[in-house]
Amino acid sequence: MTSQITTVPFRDLARVHTIGRTASRAGVSAALDSVDFTRPSHLIERFETAWADYCGVRHAVATSSGSTALLLAYLALGIGPGDEVLTVPNTFVATAEAALLLGARVRLADIDPATLAIDQDQAIGMLTDRTKAVVPLHPFGRFAELDRLGPACAARGIALVEEACHAHGARRGSVMAGAAGDCGVFSFGPTKPLAGLGEGGAVVTDDDELAERLRRLNNHGRVGGQHAGLGLNFRIHPIEASYLSTRLALYPELVERRREIARQYNDAFREYGVTGNTDVADPAGHSYYVYVLAVPERDRFCKRLTADGVGWDVHYPIAIHRQQAHLSRFADSCLPHCDEAQQRIVSIPLYDGLTDAEVGYVIDHVRSALDDLAA
Ligand SMILES: Cc1ncc(COP(=O)(O)O)c(C=O)c1O
Repeated sequence: MTSQITTVPFRDLARVHTIGRTASRAGVSAALDSVDFTRPSHLIERFETAWADYCGVRHAVATSSGSTALLLAYLALGIGPGDEVLTVPNTFVATAEAALLLGARVRLADIDPATLAIDQDQAIGMLTDRTKAVVPLHPFGRFAELDRLGPACAARGIALVEEACHAHGARRGSVMAGAAGDCGVFSFGPTKPLAGLGEGGAVVTDDDELAERLRRLNNHGRVGGQHAGLGLNFRIHPIEASYLSTRLALYPELVERRREIARQYNDAFREYGVTGNTDVADPAGHSYYVYVLAVPERDRFCKRLTADGVGWDVHYPIAIHRQQAHLSRFADSCLPHCDEAQQRIVSIPLYDGLTDAEVGYVIDHVRSALDDLAA
C-alpha cells in the first residue's frame, strides 16, 4: 500500500483552479483593466473563436451556463409545444428541463448498460413525426456511439443536439464532441473538465444560419439597431470568458493527464469487470469528466472506500424519470438498463492535479474493496 497518504477526496476544486493560477490571474486582471464589458466584448469574442477552433467548428456562442446553452439551442431549433425531444434518463435534469420549459414533450430512450450512452436502436425506434431533436449525452465524457442514430436523424430532418456538457475534447477519429451533430452544448461549470470560475456554457455549430439564430436569441433578438424578434440575455460574463481563454490554453495538457490517470485505473480494475463506460479503445474518445465504475453491492463497496479515505460520489443518484418533478410525466416509461445501472454506478477521484501517489492510493484501496466483494 502507498504510504503517507491517508485520504484522497473525491474532488478538490482549490487544487484544480490553482493549476495555471498565474496565467489565469493575469488574464482576469487584464480583462478587469480593459473594462471591455459591453457588447461586443472582445473578451467574449476571443473565447468564442478559441472554443470554436478547439471543437473544429465555425461557430461558438458563449452563454451564462450549460443550462442556458441548452435552452438557447432548443430555442434556436424552434422547439416548442407539440414537439418531442428525445434524450436519456441518466443525464443532469437540465437536458430535459430546458425542453419542458419550452412546452415540448420529452421522451427518454434507455441506455446501453456497458457504455451508459443512448441505446441507438431503441432511440431510432422511438422517432416520430413530432420528434424535433434528439439529444444524446456523451456520458461522463465518453463519446456516444452515433453512427446509426446520426444518419437516422438526418434522414428525417431531426436535429441532433450533442449533450456535450461532460465531454470537452473527447473525439471520435478526427471529430470533436460538439462537432458531430447539428450543434453541441457545453457547460463550463467549476467542476467540468474545462472548468470556469463559476458559471458558463456554449453552443457550438458548423451551421451558419443556426449560429445566426443563436447569436440573435442570445441578445434579445437584436439585429443591427432593431429587436427583430424575441430573445433574452443568456450571455456569458466577459470576465468568465477571459478566465476560460486562459484555461483553454492549458486544457490539452490537462485532458491528457486525465486520460493517463484513467488508463492506470482501467488497467488496475479491468479484471473485475467494472470498467464499462471508462474503457475506450481510443483514450481520446473520453474526457473523463468523472471516472465511473459499475460495481455490485455498491453500498458495501462505498462503505469500504469511506473507511479507507477514498472519496466517491454517484453521477447521478436519481435518474430523470425517478425525480419528484417528473414521476408522473414518465410513469409509463420502461428503462430497465438505466434503472439497473443506477444501482451500480460510483465515481472515484479523477481530477486535475491528482498526484501519482494519490492515484496509487486510490488503485490499492479500490482493488482491495473489489477483492472483498469477490471473496
Ligand atoms: C449533462 C449536463 N447537462 C447540463 C448541465 C447544466 O450545466 P450548468 O450547471 O452549467 O448549467 C450539467 C451540469 O451539471 C450537466 O452535467
